[in-house]
Amino acid sequence: MANIFVIKKKISSFHNKIVKVSGDKSLSIRWVLLASLAKGKSRSFNLLNSDDVKASINTIRKLGIKVKFNKNFCEIYGEGLDGYKYKKNIVINAENSGTLGRLILGLLVNSDEKIKIIGDKSLSKRDFKRIADPLKKFGAQLKLTNNKNLPLNILGTRNLKPIKYYENRGSAQCKSSIIFAGLRTKGTTIIKAKKSRDHTELLCKYLKLPINLFRKKNYDLIKIRKAKKINSFNYRVPSDMSSASFFIVLACLTKDSNLILKNVNINSSRIGIVIILKKMGVKIIFKNKRLYKGELVADIFVKSPKNLKSINCPKKLNSSSIDEFLLIFLVAAKARGVSFFKNLSELNHKESPRLKWGSKILNLMGIKNIVTNSSIKIFGNPNIDIKKKIIIKNYLKDHRIFMSSAIAASAFGGEWHIHDKDSIKTSFPNFLKILKNIQK
Ligand code: S3P
Repeated sequence: MANIFVIKKKISSFHNKIVKVSGDKSLSIRWVLLASLAKGKSRSFNLLNSDDVKASINTIRKLGIKVKFNKNFCEIYGEGLDGYKYKKNIVINAENSGTLGRLILGLLVNSDEKIKIIGDKSLSKRDFKRIADPLKKFGAQLKLTNNKNLPLNILGTRNLKPIKYYENRGSAQCKSSIIFAGLRTKGTTIIKAKKSRDHTELLCKYLKLPINLFRKKNYDLIKIRKAKKINSFNYRVPSDMSSASFFIVLACLTKDSNLILKNVNINSSRIGIVIILKKMGVKIIFKNKRLYKGELVADIFVKSPKNLKSINCPKKLNSSSIDEFLLIFLVAAKARGVSFFKNLSELNHKESPRLKWGSKILNLMGIKNIVTNSSIKIFGNPNIDIKKKIIIKNYLKDHRIFMSSAIAASAFGGEWHIHDKDSIKTSFPNFLKILKNIQK
């Protein structure tokens, strides 16, 4: 029972609440991996203290890197680009993290010891062929279970060959993994990448690594050469836009409410949800914009709108809001009219099949929707007011399903029994504490 969270009460209006969500997950994992390859001590503050980040720290520890991690800061004692030590029959456990599981492969292809990568039940269902195939072209051997999934066995080479790679899904994980491999490869690796979050590129640029970025209208061209050295670097991780989004949406769905979210990373490749919500009639303002080590950061002011408009969502916003669609569907559920979201097959490749789950949650809420493998049409009801009992379970412990359901419960009412509360530990352990504070 302890792992089931019950919400029976709608949230009442809240005013000028100030929320500070935890550090960005993508940036935290990238910092851990890059600091592990740097020479000397790197220190971070506000590193996300979640299971995905802890799995990243455990991974570099297993590779012989010393780490000190406590609540307030993390220190990584990097041993340089060739500093990893590979024990015989080494097994790396990426647990629930697609980002760790895929990015680390780009670093491990440059080794000469057999390495096994495993993950939890959810990660073991996810597609690793998408990254194993291009990495093989560098000259490494990667063997997947059923030609697609973890466990994966990898035998790298110290003599990687540069590749040309077309990343056409908009996957930042695949792109980043190839950038990492390119940094260990003699010659020039060229990536043509559909637009996706560009944290790896920005961090590499900040670190003055040999990477050139050419931004085109519909894709980016990235050229990477072999890095000679990474200097150790300190980093204050900005707050996570994806975590902030839960409370932005709560403010949108709660009458006469407003909220301020402090110090959030507003990288343009992450703010699709803000653009979508503005199109639906929500007032969102970025204040105190500043640049921090290549990343744009701001305080976000949100005010609940009188009415929400439906949207025919432009597919070009999919990648910059890829982790936020369960929340966006909730806003569409309360909007006037029919909303349509297309080209979203990638959503079914996440920690759980999220497009299917989005539809399932709407059905449980009594919101009519028509779903296919790649699109969803949502028939909004501005007067939505749930009275019944809703049970959310067996969703592969997908953290975003838990948290989105908690937001739906707080906004729309009813009696929600949401299983697997522990799932929030992967990305946002203090989510429930913040939710409770807003209600105070
Ligand atoms: C991430 C990229 C996205 C996103 C994930 C984090 C990253 O995945 O969904 O939560 O940090 O690079 P894909 O690259 O599979 O789209």
